[in-house]
Amino acid sequence: MLELEEYLIAHTDPEPAYLAAINRTTHLKVLNPRMLSGHLQGRVLAMLSQMMQPRSILEIGTFTGYSALCLAEGLAAGGRIHTIEADDELEELIAANLQLSPFAGQVVVHIGDAKQLIPRIEEVFDLVFIDGDKREYQQYLELVLPKVRKGGIILADNTLWDGKVLVGQGSKDPQTAAIMEFNNRLSADERVDKVMLPLRDGLTMIRKR
Ligand SMILES: C[S@@+](CC[C@H](N)C(=O)[O-])C[C@H]1O[C@@H](n2cnc3c(N)ncnc32)[C@H](O)[C@@H]1O
Repeated sequence: MLELEEYLIAHTDPEPAYLAAINRTTHLKVLNPRMLSGHLQGRVLAMLSQMMQPRSILEIGTFTGYSALCLAEGLAAGGRIHTIEADDELEELIAANLQLSPFAGQVVVHIGDAKQLIPRIEEVFDLVFIDGDKREYQQYLELVLPKVRKGGIILADNTLWDGKVLVGQGSKDPQTAAIMEFNNRLSADERVDKVMLPLRDGLTMIRKR
């Protein structure tokens, strides 16, 4: 871990024990455990959610449930988080992980492609976390924006993509090219306010006007 990240974590609240357990089992059992938000970003997601006290949250890309449970910490009484995961092999682990937390009853897991499922979820969202396939971010944004209330917040993860967005337009890697295109289009998008933060792998905060 980088020295700066160690210092930030040392001066940030600890993860709840169930999240530390999910982090450990994800590293032991699942491919690409680095996809999990982790301690520092998890506490940022929890803090933002607590500040908003949303009634309805949507997450695209559940993975092992870590970030969904961080976002759930801020839900208003009776509120719910819908989270969508395309990989059905993760379904059992997600269900088991949710049960470790106090929020299992407030998390609705949808297994399938977010592009198909988002139009079928009839909710107005206060908060959305986009963390699915990097090549699909623009499609997710177009699908969720009409379902977000005015003033609602969309968070997009990995918008620095390991710093590869800085290499310029020559990039042939489709993920990098798509994230660069998403960032460029978003910066000129007058439907929303936006600010890009250099947190972990880049977190962009988007507010619907
Ligand atoms: C970076 S991981 C999510 C990490 C998780 N949000 C966290 O912070 O712990 C991305 C997840 O999105 C899922 N995914 C990719 N494309 C998707 C799609 N079209 N619909 C739903 N999930 C998708 C992947 O299977 C993967 O589990």
